[in-house]
Amino acid sequence: MPFPLTEKRMKIERLQEVDSTNLYIRKYLSGGENIAVVSDVQTSGRGTKGRSFSSRKGGIYLSVLTFYGQFPASDSFLVMMNAAVAVCRTARAFGVDARIKWPNDVLVGEKKLCGILIENSLSGSNLRASIVGIGLNVCNDLSDVRDIATSLSEEVGRTLSVEEVFSRLMCELEMGTSVEEYRSYLAVLGKRVRVCEGEKSYLAQVEDVLPDGRLCVVSEGKKMILSAAEITLRLMENKNEA
Ligand code: BTN
Repeated sequence: MPFPLTEKRMKIERLQEVDSTNLYIRKYLSGGENIAVVSDVQTSGRGTKGRSFSSRKGGIYLSVLTFYGQFPASDSFLVMMNAAVAVCRTARAFGVDARIKWPNDVLVGEKKLCGILIENSLSGSNLRASIVGIGLNVCNDLSDVRDIATSLSEEVGRTLSVEEVFSRLMCELEMGTSVEEYRSYLAVLGKRVRVCEGEKSYLAQVEDVLPDGRLCVVSEGKKMILSAAEITLRLMENKNEA
């Protein structure tokens, strides 16, 4: 299945090994040209909230640096939406039903398929550039995290080609998305969740996601707007916890 495209449109730098593609690509921030960096392995893959990200051979470890003209920083959630939806569409192209765990994990069932780390560079109230880091499990060894992670190959029951998945992902990243499409892939819409905010936690029902990425929930009859920077969510579906 050939996916001709992106190689011609955006420069792609390929590495065998690097500490972190998100860190490596920063050297291009002083330029002004969009570029993607992909590595077979990362020795210090970075996750959100200062966590590390397991990055063995067989996964896709990709960072895409994009420069913008006039792009209000208040719209920057669009960048996250685009990345998460592109991953879901890629998974679907290989027969896997992946869903977004708000705001930026991509899951199959309850297992993590992909993590996304976005780092923005601002210029006043505008987004000057974004680094979109995507770590997608294709056929990497997940034996140490089997209970919480999965790969596309595991889901389809055969070893997929990393190159083929990568080409499709680059294609999908260029397609753009909408808040409606992001919503359609969201695992939490209409579901009961436990909202964890520092030491506090409470149950809530998820009503909607706003175009700026904040989540509308209802807890004990009260409507609340939640920002991903402050909270984490645990889906309550199929759990006995109250
Ligand atoms: C998360 O799940 O916490 C986010 C993980 C993001 C991992 C990707 S892999 C490519 C890029 N380089 C990194 O060091 N991190 C991101």
